[in-house]
Amino acid sequence: MKIFQRQLLTAGLLATGLSDFVYGAADRASMFRIVVTTDLEQDDLASLIRYLLYTNELDTQGIIYTSSRYHWSGDGNGTKFFLSDREYRSPQWAWRWTGSRTVQDQVLRAYAEIWPNLNNHDPFFPTPDELRALVKVGNIDFEGEMEQDTEGSDLIRSLILNDDPRPLYLQAWGGTNTIARALKSIEEEYSNSSQWSQTQDSVSRKAVILASGFQDETYADYISLRWPDVRVEQLEPGYRTWGYNCDKGQGNTRGLSLGDNVYFTGDWMKAHIQTGPYGRLYRSWLDEQSMPGDAQDIFGSPATASSSSFCQPLEPYAFLSEGDNVVFNPFAQNSTSPNLWVMVPTEKNKAGVDIANYTTDCWAGAVQNDFAARMQLTLTPSYEDANHPPSVSILNGTTVEAPAGTTITLAGNVTDPDSHSVTTSWWQFFEEGTYPGHVIVTEVENDRADITIPADAEAGQTISIILEGTDDGKFPLTRYGRVLIHVK
Ligand SMILES: *[C@@H]1O[C@H](CO)[C@@H](O)[C@H](O)[C@H]1NC(C)=O
Ligand SMILES: *[C@@H]1O[C@H](CO)[C@@H](O)[C@H](O)[C@H]1NC(C)=O
Ligand SMILES: *[C@@H]1O[C@H](CO)[C@@H](O)[C@H](O)[C@H]1NC(C)=O
Ligand SMILES: *[C@@H]1O[C@H](CO)[C@@H](O)[C@H](O)[C@H]1NC(C)=O
Ligand SMILES: *[C@@H]1O[C@H](CO)[C@@H](O)[C@H](O)[C@H]1NC(C)=O
Ligand SMILES: *[C@@H]1O[C@H](CO)[C@@H](O)[C@H](O)[C@H]1NC(C)=O
Repeated sequence: MKIFQRQLLTAGLLATGLSDFVYGAADRASMFRIVVTTDLEQDDLASLIRYLLYTNELDTQGIIYTSSRYHWSGDGNGTKFFLSDREYRSPQWAWRWTGSRTVQDQVLRAYAEIWPNLNNHDPFFPTPDELRALVKVGNIDFEGEMEQDTEGSDLIRSLILNDDPRPLYLQAWGGTNTIARALKSIEEEYSNSSQWSQTQDSVSRKAVILASGFQDETYADYISLRWPDVRVEQLEPGYRTWGYNCDKGQGNTRGLSLGDNVYFTGDWMKAHIQTGPYGRLYRSWLDEQSMPGDAQDIFGSPATASSSSFCQPLEPYAFLSEGDNVVFNPFAQNSTSPNLWVMVPTEKNKAGVDIANYTTDCWAGAVQNDFAARMQLTLTPSYEDANHPPSVSILNGTTVEAPAGTTITLAGNVTDPDSHSVTTSWWQFFEEGTYPGHVIVTEVENDRADITIPADAEAGQTISIILEGTDDGKFPLTRYGRVLIHVK
C-alpha cells in the first residue's frame, strides 16, 4: 500500500484536527459543507449527539435517514427481503429499523433545550428549526434500495447540483444507497444529454463520500462503476478506536496511552458526557436506554447485556461505540480504484515508530476532552464560565522553503480566548512529508522552534511540522498549527 494524500476532513472530530476555525472566526460559507446520512443504530445516535456540538464549525446541509445491511424499514406492503450472509437467515419484512423520528423527537428536542446556552458561546450554532428543516427520510425500505427518489435523495441531488463551489462531504454512517440514488437520478436526467460529460465532471469534483465502511453494496454495484471519479474515503479502520470493541479484551481503551484510558471509563462518561438534557441521550454500556425497534440493542440493560453472545458488558456507562465520527486522518490509495482511499490502520508516532491503530488512537484524549468541554457549553449559560479552545497557528504560513543542512526558525502564534495558559509542543508529523528520516526540532522561547533540515534531505522532499497547543481549562482543549517545509 502506498500511503498518501492526507486531507483535512470533516465531521465531529474536525475541530480537534488542524482547523483554521476558532469559535466566531468564520462565516458559514467558509465552512465545510456536510450531509450526514445515518441508519440511526445506537452508535449513530451517539455520533449524532457529538456531531451536533460541532455544527458551529461545519455547514450542515442535511441529516438523512438511510438504510444499511443492519437496519431497514421494509416497504410497509408486505414485501419480504433477503440477502445471504446477513444477520437474518430467512426473508424478512423489516430488519432492526429504529424508526424515522428519533432525530426530530428526541435529539432536536433536547438540542432546542440547550441551544440558548450554545448560542451564548457561539452564535454560529444553527437554531433547532434550522436543523429540523434539514432532517429528511432517504432510501430506507431495504438494504441497498435505490429504486426511487426520496426526500433525502432529492436533497442530496440538489446540493450536488447547486452552484455552491465547495466540496460536498457526504457522510455515510449507514449504507451509501441514498447517496447512490441521488447520483442515479442525476445520471437519469443528464446521461443522454449534451451536458453529460460536463455534469459528470462537476459532480465528481464536488461530491466526496466519507463511508463508515461499506454497509451495503451500492458503492461496489453502482457508484464505483458509474461514478468512478468521485472521491470516496473509507473510514472503517477508525473502528479500532471508536467502534464496538467490547469483544476485544479491554474494550476501547486497548491500545490507548495510559493517561487517555480514563476518557472511556464509565465514571468519566457518565459525569461529563451523559449529563444534562442533551448529553443524557448519548449511549453507553448499561445506561438503561435502547433504540426503538432494535431487538439487538441489548447494551443498555444488565439483564439482556449479560446474556449476549457478542461479549460481556463493560462497567456501567463505559464507552460503547461511535463508529462514525472518524475524520482527520491519513489514507492509502486503492491500487485498482484510484479514487477510493482507505484510512491507514497503522501510523508512526512522534518518535517515528509504527504503531497499530495510532491513526485514530493518537487523537482520542484530545477528542474526548473537546467533546466534554462542548457538553459543558450545553449546561453553561455564561461565556465566562466555560472553556473555549485556544487559537494556535504558525506565522510562517502553510509552506516554507529551506535548503538542506540549514536551521530555520518557525514562529507560532498562540492565544486563548479565556486567558488560559497554553502549553505548546512542536513535533515532526512522520506520516506526512516525503523526507523519510528524523528531523531535529528544538523548542525555543516565545512559541518558536528551530528546525534543522538534515544534510541528506533532497531537494523537492517535504517535512511536516506541527505546533500543538493545549490550554489548562477543566477539559483541556488542544489545537494545532501545521507547516510543510519544502527542501530546496
Ligand atoms: C404499496 O403498494 C401500493 C399498491 O401496489 C403502491 O401504490 C405503493 O407505492 C406501495 N408502497 C410502497 C412503499 O412500496
Ligand atoms: C438513453 O438513451 C438510450 C437510447 O435511446 C436508452 O436506451 C436509455 O434508456 C436512455 N437512458 C436514460 C437514462 O434515459
Ligand atoms: C488494534 O486494533 C485491533 C482491532 O481492534 C486489535 O486487535 C489490536 O490489538 C489493536 N492493537 C493495538 C496496539 O492497540
Ligand atoms: C480496492 O478496490 C476494489 C474495488 O475496486 C476492492 O475490491 C478491493 O478490496 C480494494 N482493496 C483494498 C485494499 O481496499
Ligand atoms: C517565520 O516567521 C518568523 C516571524 O515572522 C520569522 O522570524 C522567521 O524568520 C520565519 N521563518 C522562516 C523560515 O521564514
Ligand atoms: C495571533 O492570533 C490572534 C488570534 O487568532 C490574532 O488575533 C492575531 O492577529 C494573530 N497575530 C498575528 C501576528 O498574526
